[in-house]
Amino acid sequence: MQIISEGKAKIKVPRVVSKAVSKKMPVFYNPVMEFNRSLSISLLNNINKKDMKIALPLAATGIRGIRFIRELKRGKIGEIKFNDLDIKAFKFTMENLQLNDISKDVIVSCMDANLFMMNNEGFDYIDIDPFGSPNPFLETAIKKISRSGILAVTATDTAALCSAKPKACLRKYWSHSMWNEQMQEIGLRVLARRVQLIGAMHDKALTPIYSYAKDHYFRIFFLCEKGKQLCDKMMKKHLYFLYCTKCMARTLSKHNNEKCCGKTMDFAGPLWTGRLWDTKLARKISAEFAPKKERIFCSNIANEALIDAVGVYDLHKLSRLYQIKPPKPDDVISSLKKKKFKASRTHINNNYIRTNASIQDIVGIIKN
Ligand SMILES: C[S@@+](CC[C@H](N)C(=O)[O-])C[C@H]1O[C@@H](n2cnc3c(N)ncnc32)[C@H](O)[C@@H]1O
Repeated sequence: MQIISEGKAKIKVPRVVSKAVSKKMPVFYNPVMEFNRSLSISLLNNINKKDMKIALPLAATGIRGIRFIRELKRGKIGEIKFNDLDIKAFKFTMENLQLNDISKDVIVSCMDANLFMMNNEGFDYIDIDPFGSPNPFLETAIKKISRSGILAVTATDTAALCSAKPKACLRKYWSHSMWNEQMQEIGLRVLARRVQLIGAMHDKALTPIYSYAKDHYFRIFFLCEKGKQLCDKMMKKHLYFLYCTKCMARTLSKHNNEKCCGKTMDFAGPLWTGRLWDTKLARKISAEFAPKKERIFCSNIANEALIDAVGVYDLHKLSRLYQIKPPKPDDVISSLKKKKFKASRTHINNNYIRTNASIQDIVGIIKN
């Protein structure tokens, strides 16, 4: 055992013998996910919600919930419930709550996450943070998320969502992904649609308010709104993303068989083609992160959030394809902005940009 500090919490975690963090650990604690937890705190502190009923159905060591109790602003938490199927995780959570002098108004249980959620009336925030796919827990979480509640979903099965395993993507996410520079964004959008389709079955429209792809995982926070018409409107944005491998043109379509440069375009989807971020929230979150790396990550997201466009441009790939000297992202962005286009770096890769300009516009600007 060892005691570690993360944010304002200290927790007891199993000493990791091998370097790899895996689900074979006695109780799962992944230090790489510190940012993931910090971001959840920042998000909840920056939304207009008080007295929240919070559920952590897959709580592991309890670190996330303990940090919520320590770091969420006063009045944010009305009730908080920890749960994990693993008895060792349950014991760790109990000990860690004690270690942090948290004794009252907290409920800890040890059962299957679906059973735990079903046993409760409903929650304003549910955090689905499993190993691998969130699928087994989505339907219950969606049933139990309140009107105007926030559902947080993590997926670590990136191979399926990034099309390294196309059959798995079709089976698990009912969609086609894409194996190129678009894969992280496409993965996020495929996951978003999967969650939204289950939401629609329950007349709940789940709109992403903050999304990102990082390290080995995808994460989306959804705002839940009740209403059949909202769901119908949302589902109109489930389209195909078409991509020309010859010229890097892209388009959205109801169909997956359009042509460009004399050949059928590659396609991904159906996927969510609406916004991945709430612009104001993204700006507020980016103002909060002090360490340089995280601040840049979040400020790239805040800038991306201002651009209503699906897909990224890989400037290295573009320079190879069009045989031009690799341009600097910041130079391209400022030239695009001078021409009144929107443009930003991306949180996904340093050499990618997001813009509402077409490939012809970008190439024209770089060549001139
Ligand atoms: C990735 S860890 C959770 C990490 C945690 N949320 C954090 O921030 O540190 C996944 C946890 O889910 C638990 N788990 C797996 N299947 C479960 C199930 N069906 N019901 C409840 N818990 C489950 C595992 O025991 C493990 O502790």
